[in-house]
Amino acid sequence: MSVHTDVKRISVPQLMGYKGQQKIAALTAYSAPFARLFDDCLDMILVGDSTAMVGYNLPNTLSITVDQMAAHGAAVVRSTKRVCVIVDMPFGSYQESPQQAFANAAKVLAASGADGIKMEGGAAMASTTQFLVERGVPVLAHVGLMPQYVNTMGGFKAQGMTEEAAERILQDALAHEAAGAFGVVLEGIAEPLGRRITERLSIPTIGIGASPACDGQILVAEDILGLSGDRIPKFARKFADAGAVIRGAAEQYAAEVRNGTFPGLENCFGVKK
Ligand code: KIV
Repeated sequence: MSVHTDVKRISVPQLMGYKGQQKIAALTAYSAPFARLFDDCLDMILVGDSTAMVGYNLPNTLSITVDQMAAHGAAVVRSTKRVCVIVDMPFGSYQESPQQAFANAAKVLAASGADGIKMEGGAAMASTTQFLVERGVPVLAHVGLMPQYVNTMGGFKAQGMTEEAAERILQDALAHEAAGAFGVVLEGIAEPLGRRITERLSIPTIGIGASPACDGQILVAEDILGLSGDRIPKFARKFADAGAVIRGAAEQYAAEVRNGTFPGLENCFGVKK
């Protein structure tokens, strides 16, 4: 007899309904082991293009491709049943035109089975958000500090520090809301601005170095697990030192192999030396 467990994945409309009701807890994950562990304790997993820096040790996020993002997305979707999975659109895959954005978003969704995509960009990208949403692609917008704009921003710097710049970011978020985005990631902005945008929007805001008032929070998983070396942003907190645990296990294994106490095949298949 097979036991059928009917676990339903959290949908994008469900996430939108969290606004004002419960906070959205989100982390990044790029591969099966983390996705499996996070499935029943988070509301959303972002398969972020931050994998370029975190997973591939690249200096920025600009060179990850659609195929790579689709493959990471598929690994995360295959390894989860319950959590809502959103995949980042990589640099160069959506900025050229709404049609380019749709073709690549459709490719990512078809290949991964994810629930939606995330795109960086201010009000100028709102028409692309609308084009996608009207064609069935749920869009999570991303404003404020946008890592794909590292070259125009001159580094990874907090944004919206003048009244004029803060107003522009508010208008960016409002433009994506009007275009049909289901939520907005607010990254690297001053606390009062994060609070102000959250109060103005009727869709959820998800903060990363923004404000505790945001409707949800997201962090890069490796940053809270002690797996990012010394590249940890100021706003991330180390909740565990998984790095030390993994390193300790590897050292113990290496020592056993070298001193001949590692059992090898002996205990596995009944093979006697
Ligand atoms: O790529 C990413 O991981 C992100 C989040 C940290 C918001 O964009």
